This record gives sequence, C-alpha cells and structure tokens, in this order.
Amino acid sequence: MILTEIDHVAIAVHDLEQAIFFYESAFGASVLHREVVEHDGVEEALIRVADSYVQLTTGTREDSPISKFLAKRGEGVHHIGYRVDDCAAAIESMVAAGATPIDAEPRPGSRGTTVAFIHPKGALGTLIELVQE
Ligand code: CO
Repeated sequence: MILTEIDHVAIAVHDLEQAIFFYESAFGASVLHREVVEHDGVEEALIRVADSYVQLTTGTREDSPISKFLAKRGEGVHHIGYRVDDCAAAIESMVAAGATPIDAEPRPGSRGTTVAFIHPKGALGTLIELVQE
C-alpha cells in the first residue's frame, strides 16, 4: 500500500472568509495555514483534522481550475489529496493501473510539498492529488 494518509480533502468555495467562518462556527475549527498558490491560481486555508487537513480553496483568477470548477459545478468537494512517500513512484504505479496523470512529473505544491494531480477519468471519477511531504 503506497498511500500513507489522507493528506487533505479539498473543498471549492466561492468566498474563503465565509467558508472559514462556517467551519469555525460549526466545528470550532481554526485555520492552521493559509497560502496563495500563484501557479494554480488558488488561495487555500488548511484546517487540521487529526493527521489530515480540510483544505478550503477558492480561485484567485477567472482562468484557474478552481474558478472554472466553481462556475460549472458550484461549491463542493474538488479533489482528494493522498499522502505518499514517493510522488514519482506513485504516479508510475497509477499509470500502470490505467490512470492518466495531469502532472507527468512531480511539482511543488503548497506547504513546501511535492505533488502531482491525476485525472478523474481513469481514477473512478475522482481528481486525485498525490502529496509527498
Ligand atoms: Co490539494
């Protein structure tokens, strides 16, 4: 088994402040980390749950994948981040199983992680992010 933890569940939201306020009110949650990832056109807020995170994510520009998702589908679960020890090996393993990578090579993610996205088609309709800490 190459998955070591569910790293995060990413939820696309229209208004990050409102979404954080909802998680604070509903769960007594507090934000551990906030980051704008220019490369992906997103701003995210991480809420820690045990050894995993809920990642509230919004778009910072109209052409970002999150903004497109929000325009098409509205708010909701956007992707699942699986923690792995070796991102490149995990891509290879998923490709061998028939999946299609969006990122053929690992690249920098938020929090100083190394990540790769795998296309939902060929992965049970789920956008998967492989996350190496
Ligand atoms: Co993610």
